[in-house]
Amino acid sequence: MNDTPTESPVPSPQPAGFSRRDLVIGGSLAAAALATAGATRAHASGEPSVAVASANGLEAVGRAVAQMDAGVSPVEAAVHGVAVVEDDPDDFTVGYGGLPNSEGVVQLDSCCMDGPTMRAGAVAALEGFRHPAQVALQVLQRTTRVLLVGDGAARFARAIGFEEENLLTEKARKIWLYWKANMSDRDDWLPAPGQTEDPDVRAFIEEYGAVRPTGTINLCAVDGDRDVGGTTTTSGLFFKIPGRVGDSPLIGAGLFVDNEVGAAGSTGRGESVIQIAGGHTVVEFMRAGKSPEAACLAALERLVQATRVPYLLDDKGRPSFDVKFYAVNKKGETGSAALWSGAKHAVCRSGSKPVLLDSAYLYERDLK
Ligand code: GLY
Repeated sequence: MNDTPTESPVPSPQPAGFSRRDLVIGGSLAAAALATAGATRAHASGEPSVAVASANGLEAVGRAVAQMDAGVSPVEAAVHGVAVVEDDPDDFTVGYGGLPNSEGVVQLDSCCMDGPTMRAGAVAALEGFRHPAQVALQVLQRTTRVLLVGDGAARFARAIGFEEENLLTEKARKIWLYWKANMSDRDDWLPAPGQTEDPDVRAFIEEYGAVRPTGTINLCAVDGDRDVGGTTTTSGLFFKIPGRVGDSPLIGAGLFVDNEVGAAGSTGRGESVIQIAGGHTVVEFMRAGKSPEAACLAALERLVQATRVPYLLDDKGRPSFDVKFYAVNKKGETGSAALWSGAKHAVCRSGSKPVLLDSAYLYERDLK
């Protein structure tokens, strides 16, 4: 039996507003679209717009709320918000300046989802474009598809008119070479003289030591009409196998949005989030009546149950990595939880300044 999915022929996608001019605007295309998108929508309800994000999203949540207050839809506001982190060369975990894969190439993953329509867009292993969330939004808005990967995603971004550039900053290149030289004493690479005295390398060693973390920004948003949207964007696991894709571009894992319930997303070890369809699981716990924070904790408990291989467990049988979930429900209540204590998350509501709040957790970090 042929199980290839079949579809009725559809006219070639020619979304409203798509013109030859769009094709030549280049990198400003998405920004222009975001600036005008939904600008005629007003929130008559008087309810505040709300955004929740990972701790690196303090500025991003403020931007997202300002956009929603101006009438931009939650998904577009979320994508606009995270652009500030994608642009930040000092955030090693997202966009421009993100740490590269094992071959020194920056490969980015992102997805976004719109609650009212349940439409989603995503790109994975995208090279050469600093705003994967904006490319994902274009996949959502201009195609009948959800996920584009690798060279196909880059061709799409090029066709839409995004600006192509080298995303490997000098700082990230030096850190990558340090990692290569110190990964093993049985390969061909030797530590370079003075390498660990370089301030950029030193700062990296002090912050991350011997671990290979994953960063990422997730941002979930609800507007005054109680429509929901979100995005997740990342450079993924530091020094990953080329082509490795984590949870961030996978709808249901790194992000899930349901306009009847709310939105949830994740940062941290993507493979573990994928195993339990993390974002979707959090949303389903909220649908069953849990608060956003309780839903995040319940999903983490499920993730712990699914973590069985010894190389992922510490000497007390607990996960030796971290995962964090972030969630907002349709009422605008927010919550976050992490496997390990010490995590924070960013929240902003209309009329208030963005704040960093403590996240709930399952395990207290052992005191050193
Ligand atoms: N959560 C980001 C990643 O695993 O790539």
